[in-house]
Amino acid sequence: MPDRYAVIGHPIAHSKSPFIHGLFAQATGQDMTYEAIDGGVAPGGFERAVQAFRAAGGRGLNVTLPFKLAALRLADEASADARLAGAANTLIFEGAKARAHNTDGIGLVRDIEHNLGTPLAGRRVLLLGAGGATRGVLLPIARAGAARILVANRTADKAHALARELAPHLGGVPLAGGGLDALAGAGAFDVVVNATSASLSGQAPAVPPSAFAPGALAYDMVYGQGLTPFLAAARAAGCARVADGLGMLVEQAAESFALWRGVRPDTRAVLARLSG
Ligand code: ATR
Repeated sequence: MPDRYAVIGHPIAHSKSPFIHGLFAQATGQDMTYEAIDGGVAPGGFERAVQAFRAAGGRGLNVTLPFKLAALRLADEASADARLAGAANTLIFEGAKARAHNTDGIGLVRDIEHNLGTPLAGRRVLLLGAGGATRGVLLPIARAGAARILVANRTADKAHALARELAPHLGGVPLAGGGLDALAGAGAFDVVVNATSASLSGQAPAVPPSAFAPGALAYDMVYGQGLTPFLAAARAAGCARVADGLGMLVEQAAESFALWRGVRPDTRAVLARLSG
């Protein structure tokens, strides 16, 4: 019997995860299946679906919106990345134990460093947005050796609060928070990541051209939207290097796969197929 894995979310029909993990399994010769489960909207529906999956012998889950917080809550143990993110995108079931991980941040770092050829060590990083997407990537970016991190948000108070809470956990990497309106005086950054949900409504957080250092990389965490308003604005500001979040999607999947199976699949072929 092949080992069972799945992604759970709501909605889930358009998830690329079954395709990605199917290719990973094929390429690495792993005897496993990977399906998509709709957790629905009923209260307790997510927990019941997870329970049923485990009872049927399920070995691990990817968890996506809106269940990442609930996934962390139901786990018996959690990695530092998941604890600090306050959310989990990966669950591992071993006997009676459920372990939670969050591979979103390491997925972003892998994409930026390996696929986009931009080592983060010594770089100034600007994160736009102060929601779950930003929270989920702070620790891995700090671990990669960023020189400093600024979280800028439309609602400045949220960025201040996030920075106050997480700064003590980043191994000495300076973290500050502020409003988008203060960016004009905040200097230039080598990597500017849009972690807001603005792209999904055809908008962009207002970033002054001065925020992009010469040769900066502009990165939008969303994918499948073409050149988002944020990336278009970055280009107009003279930023030649722009990327969307497709690589992050594939790399976070590869990290989850490695946690489950002990082998990290090659992501290049999968990324090429999705981009093509
Ligand atoms: P998630 O958990 O997915 O990050 P969230 O917690 O709702 O979602 O956070 C969404 C983020 O996108 C917030 O930082 C939000 O800014 P506010 O805190 O000021 O609401 C940001 N955001 C959403 N739409 C935006 C827009 N049009 N311009 C700028 N920021 C936007």
